[in-house]
Amino acid sequence: MKGKVVIHREFSIGEVDKRIYGSFIEHLGRAVYGGIYEPGHPEADEAGFRKDVIGLVRELNVPVVRYPGGNFVSGYNWEDGVGPVEKRPVRQELAWMTLEPNRMGTNEFVRWARRAGTEVMMAVNLGTRGPDAARNLVEYCNFSKGTAWSDLRRSHGCEAPHGIKLWCLGNEMDGPWQICHRTAAEYGRLAAEAAKVMKWTDPSIELVACGSSGARMPTFGSWESEVLDHVYDHADYVSLHIYFDNRGNDTPNFLGKSLEMDSFIKTVAGICDLAKAKKRGKKTVNLSFDEWNVWFHSNDADRKREKWTVAPSQLEDIYTMEDALVVGCMLITLLKNADRVKVACLAQLVNVIAPIMTENGGKAWRQTIFYPFMHASKYGRGTVLRCPVKVATYDSREYTDIPYLETVAVHDPAAETLTLFAVNRNLTEAMELEAGLHGFEDYRFIEHITLHNPDLHAVNSAGGEKIRPEKAAPRKRDGPCLDVTLPPASWNVIRLGRALPAHIDRPF
Ligand code: AHR
Repeated sequence: MKGKVVIHREFSIGEVDKRIYGSFIEHLGRAVYGGIYEPGHPEADEAGFRKDVIGLVRELNVPVVRYPGGNFVSGYNWEDGVGPVEKRPVRQELAWMTLEPNRMGTNEFVRWARRAGTEVMMAVNLGTRGPDAARNLVEYCNFSKGTAWSDLRRSHGCEAPHGIKLWCLGNEMDGPWQICHRTAAEYGRLAAEAAKVMKWTDPSIELVACGSSGARMPTFGSWESEVLDHVYDHADYVSLHIYFDNRGNDTPNFLGKSLEMDSFIKTVAGICDLAKAKKRGKKTVNLSFDEWNVWFHSNDADRKREKWTVAPSQLEDIYTMEDALVVGCMLITLLKNADRVKVACLAQLVNVIAPIMTENGGKAWRQTIFYPFMHASKYGRGTVLRCPVKVATYDSREYTDIPYLETVAVHDPAAETLTLFAVNRNLTEAMELEAGLHGFEDYRFIEHITLHNPDLHAVNSAGGEKIRPEKAAPRKRDGPCLDVTLPPASWNVIRLGRALPAHIDRPF
């Protein structure tokens, strides 16, 4: 099959905010204990952090990690997780029905984040708690010294403030499963008051208000609208969450799900703009897509799990080749909406619906979804270009007009590189893709990286990686056109760079 794409230097959507390559660590399953933290493991450093895991997080190039939840945060007393470890309580954790030993908490996580080369996006508990605990945590983390909470942090060995810039006002407060679920009016008022005192404590912080926990929630739309009536003046972002599944084993439909993500983003952006209009406001509220991924493989196992244990295996989805394609389409969708999506977190980072898996006491390894995320995070920095596409479309059980080609280009003017990300949704046919290049006449082909496997259910494991990226050859590389072949059901990264005179060396 054939596809055509036009890449024009001036067709800019917006700048990539690097925080769209964020991720998420929740006190859930083996994300923390046995994931990032495992004292006694041969790879553990003096703080108990697994260096093999830190190495993989660094490979992923994750600029921000949301913490400590998720549903967990709605029952969390942050004070349980600071101070001498031997005095910290073990608690019943009601979101996931486990025991939380509090061996890791705020200061340890900040220390881990520094070692992993990332920043913390902190969530406060607006479930069982409220503005007082939230503003105390901001003071504990961000105030320099001379107050009860800041001096408590210093007495815990952290002299310098943590300087955490991005904060979530609770988590999924629209969901009946949430500890202390609220109505939009209840949450809106609570979030507005928490936001006020948090920003009074540290005016430099940015705040994310809870949007809907999914576009299929019965309150979707009205929730955002009502919450924004209360928080518009105080919040900088509204959150979106989405998880896709292929329970019906219908791959063409599964591959079309990113269309739903796109329409979710556009609808929430519209609601934010409506709030701005109603308030006669000047500020544009942007979007934080702070949970997104594929999640369904582990559902059955999780239903059978024993309750009230520490760090059981939970939400340990093992991802397939087709999941990597869906994650690739979702990454492209985030990029295509770079004008409004400023933060996004792949949920999650280690062991729990994650690109990185570990064995307790054993290896750390890369899931299939690791690769599209790594490629996008590494090469998808700069200006996103809108790429009009000519390609055939198909209809599926839930969606119509799904293009066989999902694609976007990112131009990095500083590095003088142009990267085209592309998914061929056609399961049986390769796509001969012709890319017309406008304003990039002096750019030359660097490489075409592709991820594909005829077995869409193939997975990686601690024993080895069946799914690994490989290099493909360009069909033709001269003139204002680039011709490449996208294998059936494939994720592709096509990289170009400005050619320099022959006597100047370039590192690619
Ligand atoms: O990421 C797993 C869970 O999914 C999070 O705790 C929650 O916010 C969402 O429902």
